[in-house]
Amino acid sequence: MIDQQLASGDIGDMPSLGLFTALRQTADEPLFHHEAKVGLITHLLATALGHDNGSAAEMAYAATVHDVGRHSMSDETFAKCDALTEDEIAELRRHTGYGALLLEKAGFDPDGLAVQAALHHHERYDGTGYPTGISGEAIPLVARLVAVADVYDALRAARPYKPALDHAEVCRIILEGDGRCSPSHFDPVVLEAFRDNAEAIRRLWAPAAAA
Ligand SMILES: [Fe+2]
Repeated sequence: MIDQQLASGDIGDMPSLGLFTALRQTADEPLFHHEAKVGLITHLLATALGHDNGSAAEMAYAATVHDVGRHSMSDETFAKCDALTEDEIAELRRHTGYGALLLEKAGFDPDGLAVQAALHHHERYDGTGYPTGISGEAIPLVARLVAVADVYDALRAARPYKPALDHAEVCRIILEGDGRCSPSHFDPVVLEAFRDNAEAIRRLWAPAAAA
């Protein structure tokens, strides 16, 4: 299935690292915290959509490895402050396919939630995402949940190339758009759950902070 879905895309070479070798290398790095927070927000959104705790937990677990393919990227590209070149953008986009392959090599079900989350979390509801450009409910639900959680955490966190934004600003960007991010990128049902649970997400993301 992965091979079919990636048939039209260039995913480069197979990942060279084992899954847990890759995970251990990031235990103290921002990506580790990103994965954990996206997992927690995914759990909250899945619960808000009516999934029982077992189902929400399965999706949250999948969400915690959604960016594992980032290990395929060079540190320079990941941390670069300047605008990325076309080649670097292509390298960045390969992390979805790399992640799916890494998980499959580690024994995850090729059609399961973790592989779906890794492969499809940058798809957009309006079909403008990657790697496959699928749209709407053709995008697996777990990936539609991770897409919102991923953008929330990415905007809240400081990176070498950008400052952290506060909760209210991030909510405005996700719900109203800002030129780069548009509500059309997200499942409207998931967006409604995000809006209805924004305060809980704020507390979940930074339990000791006021922002
Ligand atoms: Fe990603």
